Amino acid sequence: MTKLRSTYESMSNYFVIGNPIDHSLSPLIHNYWFKKYKIQSKYEKKKLKENDLKNFITEMKNNKQIDGANVTVPFKKKIIPFLDQLTDISQKTLSVNTIYKENGKLIGHNTDAPAFTQTLLDLKDWRDGSNRPLKSLIIGAGGVTSSVIFAIEELNDVQGENYIMNRTKKNAEDLIRTGLKELKTKPKFLDWGDIPQNLDIIVNTTSVGLAKDDNLKLDFSIYKNSKKTVFYDLIYNPKETNFLNDAKERGNTVINGKMMFVLQAKKAFLHWTKIDAEIDDEILKLLD
Ligand SMILES: NC(=O)c1ccc[n+]([C@@H]2O[C@H](COP(=O)([O-])OP(=O)(O)OC[C@H]3O[C@@H](n4cnc5c(N)ncnc54)[C@H](OP(=O)(O)O)[C@@H]3O)[C@@H](O)[C@H]2O)c1
Repeated sequence: MTKLRSTYESMSNYFVIGNPIDHSLSPLIHNYWFKKYKIQSKYEKKKLKENDLKNFITEMKNNKQIDGANVTVPFKKKIIPFLDQLTDISQKTLSVNTIYKENGKLIGHNTDAPAFTQTLLDLKDWRDGSNRPLKSLIIGAGGVTSSVIFAIEELNDVQGENYIMNRTKKNAEDLIRTGLKELKTKPKFLDWGDIPQNLDIIVNTTSVGLAKDDNLKLDFSIYKNSKKTVFYDLIYNPKETNFLNDAKERGNTVINGKMMFVLQAKKAFLHWTKIDAEIDDEILKLLD
């Protein structure tokens, strides 16, 4: 990896690293907040190859003008061996989406999971205000899935009932076996299409839906008119995937990934700047 440009040296700099990275909307959010709160900082996308990760982390550690980074697909787990320390939540999810500096050390943190939790806590009229344990179905077993499973677990005071379904069984089995630590309930693997009854929440954590015609090819007709079942898609662009669109037509409650995305950014921004940034209309418009 080439050395980061010297123009970065006059201000503090932040990056989102991933591959691909063109699609990332994180710079829009963070640069908007830097401007709004009059902070002399800049946030940029950086496309890396896996064998660039070590150099990036070394550069970040040695360069006082680099104060933080976000990590996106496919490096949320792969970055872990290069960091000095992990927060409790990133240890439990084995997923890092935010890096900050503390006493010269690089700390790996996860703001995806608490962002997801918060979107559910903010949802009105769900679970009838009760604390009963959740019955959930998670579709997918990729980089973000451990955060979603962890977050759902956090909402349960006692053991819930969690199911997972993934195109590639082995990836789900690996995630259940090694991708999550200290779970109260390990999710049970289900074959594709084997949809349980009476779920509180069904979360699409796959990338199926990013293209307009994408379809998970799952039959959720047993959920017709069960408005209490939340259909949650982590995708926010397009705003309504076919998974959400079909659920809405059946009369179910739907939620897309936009607020989770803004909230994970807000929580990262707070770590870096100690500012609790406002999620205003401008930010929400930037993501449309
Ligand atoms: N809202 C937010 O804040 C937020 C945060 C993070 C991620 N996301 C979104 O979440 C999605 C997943 O992200 P990730 O980082 O976990 O991705 P990832 O690691 O690449 O995982 C992709 C998942 O999608 C599945 N998949 C891909 N193509 C499929 C197909 N044709 N049919 C069925 N399953 C398929 C994969 O199954 P296999 O195991 O079989 O390959 C895997 O489970 C992305 O759309 C991303 O944009 C949103």
